[in-house]
Amino acid sequence: MASDIIAIYPGSFDPLTNGHVDIIQRGSGLFDRIVVAMLVNIEKAPLFTVAERVEIAREVFGRYPNVEVDTFDGLLVEYARRRKASVIVRGLRAISDFEYEMQMALMNRHLNPEVETVFMMPAEPYTYVSSRLVKEVVALGGSVTNLVPAVVEARLREKKHARETLKA
Ligand SMILES: Nc1ncnc2c1ncn2[C@@H]1O[C@H](COP(=O)(O)OP(=O)(O)OP(=O)(O)O)[C@@H](O)[C@H]1O
Ligand SMILES: [Mg+2]
Repeated sequence: MASDIIAIYPGSFDPLTNGHVDIIQRGSGLFDRIVVAMLVNIEKAPLFTVAERVEIAREVFGRYPNVEVDTFDGLLVEYARRRKASVIVRGLRAISDFEYEMQMALMNRHLNPEVETVFMMPAEPYTYVSSRLVKEVVALGGSVTNLVPAVVEARLREKKHARETLKA
């Protein structure tokens, strides 16, 4: 349908956290389709490959008919144009997210005024959750149960085990 509202939720999702899951669920209720778009960023050294991140998100959202998982590189607004998306979804955890997010939203509006950025707040227990912190906690031997989907927790444990075996 031409009038369907398609939203893109871009990020690195390295790995997917329950904060991301919360935002995706909200978006799936709000828009006809939400595309979780993993940024293929060659400069960053990710913990999970893009293929692994896609696999994880598909596993978590397999039962959601209007959630799609895809990858992109280059300009986000160009990708949005290609996907016929009129909305970019971003999550806001705290004031610290605000300045960067506002700059990005206004730059994207400058580049393509037809795409609107929509911000959503996660449920309170996820306001302090970030992928970076989750990786740090796991690397130091802490538990991230309830902060990430079970499949992510299992994969983080596998990675840690693989690295420790390599070191030994
Ligand atoms: N816990 C959360 N609650 C709400 N939004 C979130 C949460 N974590 C991330 N987001 C939002 O999801 C989008 C994609 O973020 P990103 O992939 O950078 O995750 P991240 O957790 O911030 O990862 P990193 O720590 O590597 O920056 C951004 O809009 C970010 O603000
Ligand atoms: Mg981030």
